[in-house]
Amino acid sequence: MTQPCWVSADPFFSKMTKSIEFDLEGKDREHAYRLLGGLVTPRPIAWVTTQDREGRVNAAPFSFFNVLGTCPPILGFAPGNKSADLPKDTARNIRATGEFVVNLVDEAVAEAMNLTAAELEYGRSEIDHAGLTVAESAVVAPPRIAEAPVALECREWSTLEFGRNRLVIGRILRIQAREGIVDPATLRVNDEAYLPIGRMRAPAQYCRTRDRFDMERPD
Ligand SMILES: Cc1cc2nc3c(=O)[nH]c(=O)nc-3n(C[C@H](O)[C@H](O)[C@H](O)COP(=O)(O)O)c2cc1C
Repeated sequence: MTQPCWVSADPFFSKMTKSIEFDLEGKDREHAYRLLGGLVTPRPIAWVTTQDREGRVNAAPFSFFNVLGTCPPILGFAPGNKSADLPKDTARNIRATGEFVVNLVDEAVAEAMNLTAAELEYGRSEIDHAGLTVAESAVVAPPRIAEAPVALECREWSTLEFGRNRLVIGRILRIQAREGIVDPATLRVNDEAYLPIGRMRAPAQYCRTRDRFDMERPD
């Protein structure tokens, strides 16, 4: 019987069938972040803006993030605690106000996004620190980042707490996309106008998403 074309006779590939196991319940527990952060890639980046009760704007990136469903439109991102029981400012503000904006990150704002990961004291804005500007949101109080290509206005649906992490689940109420990114008639996203980046290996590796391809889905 002839082998299908995806089975290689090359010994290099046959070696790849061996796997190395990492025990995240035992000896490799401490390495979960490095292993999972390096393997579950690329991840989109939620660049989250929130406000505290005094209206001061906070911004921070989170790559433990994705859209989780569309009916209703739901997303989730996961801020870890700063220390055992001290939440990050983003989580603290969402607990206080129940609202946030997820700005998406393209190549043009990559460096500014990175600057907003600085750990500033509570109440000091990463927006000023990174030389960014904000624009008013339509239905939530926290503003969006004006330089970001797309912003998702969200209301907290629920927050799950597990260990030192929490999963903030938000209902997406509005999408704000810069003109030219989505064709309003076809809803098609313009690949030339939208160049999101992804997070690869922590702490500092990213990828561009210019190399795209189509694949027909089976019936
Ligand atoms: C690209 C990128 C992705 C990040 N993803 C996460 C994440 O998913 N969860 C997390 O807790 N911290 C993440 N961080 C670190 C936070 O952005 C950082 O702790 C930040 O200071 C939190 O800000 P805040 O206290 O204002 O909320 C990430 C940093 C970068 C640069």
